[in-house]
Amino acid sequence: MVHGGPDDLANEPVFHRDRDPSGARIGRRLFIDHGMGVVIGETCEIGDDVVIYQGVTLGGTGKEKGKRHPTIGNRVVIASGAKVLGSFRVGDNCNIGANSVVLREVPSNSTVVGIPGRVVKRDGQRVSDRLDHTNLPDPLIETFRAMQNEINELKLEIGRLKNPPKEEPEGVPVSAASHDNY
Ligand SMILES: CC(C)(COP(=O)(O)OP(=O)(O)OC[C@H]1O[C@@H](n2cnc3c(N)ncnc32)[C@H](O)[C@@H]1OP(=O)(O)O)[C@@H](O)C(=O)NCCC(=O)NCCS
Repeated sequence: MVHGGPDDLANEPVFHRDRDPSGARIGRRLFIDHGMGVVIGETCEIGDDVVIYQGVTLGGTGKEKGKRHPTIGNRVVIASGAKVLGSFRVGDNCNIGANSVVLREVPSNSTVVGIPGRVVKRDGQRVSDRLDHTNLPDPLIETFRAMQNEINELKLEIGRLKNPPKEEPEGVPVSAASHDNY
């Protein structure tokens, strides 16, 4: 569906449009596969060779004025049910995962999944921003360790004060004394 402008085509399935008369700028060879329920906002810009599946919304958040819909780069795949909401850019060669809700700029060559959408792959490499639940830092343990170290230092210090190291007796140097014995 292309909506929001003078040629509002709401409720009418559109399988392929080269240019939206309502204002959206659509590049060459846009392919809308199973094109039901696809909404392309009025101020959207779409690059070349983009694939959009059913149920995709390229829409606004309702908080922006003027340009309020996304700009999609070249060779982007927007999988079924994905919502891309806001006036940011999705870079070239991106995959937007099925049912994700993308609310922020997406760098080129990225895969975004989830709600809210997050980059899980960039330039072919997995992005490891996952939470490692089994290895979370424990601030209490860290504090106890620091306190234990301090206690150990203090114990040593007290021990030194109670039993100061014995000093050598004053007088004839040891080396001279031992010479005299031979
Ligand atoms: C996102 C998509 C395009 C694949 O892109 P990709 O760059 O090849 O990404 P990958 O398959 O390597 O997946 C990367 C990670 O995202 C996860 N992921 C992929 N798609 C996801 C989705 N829609 N939601 C949540 N997580 C998803 C994968 O499990 C993987 O996680 P892992 O690193 O923990 O294993 C694809 O998964 C997708 O959504 N395809 C749907 C296409 C569609 O709409 N088909 C309908 C035809 S009718």
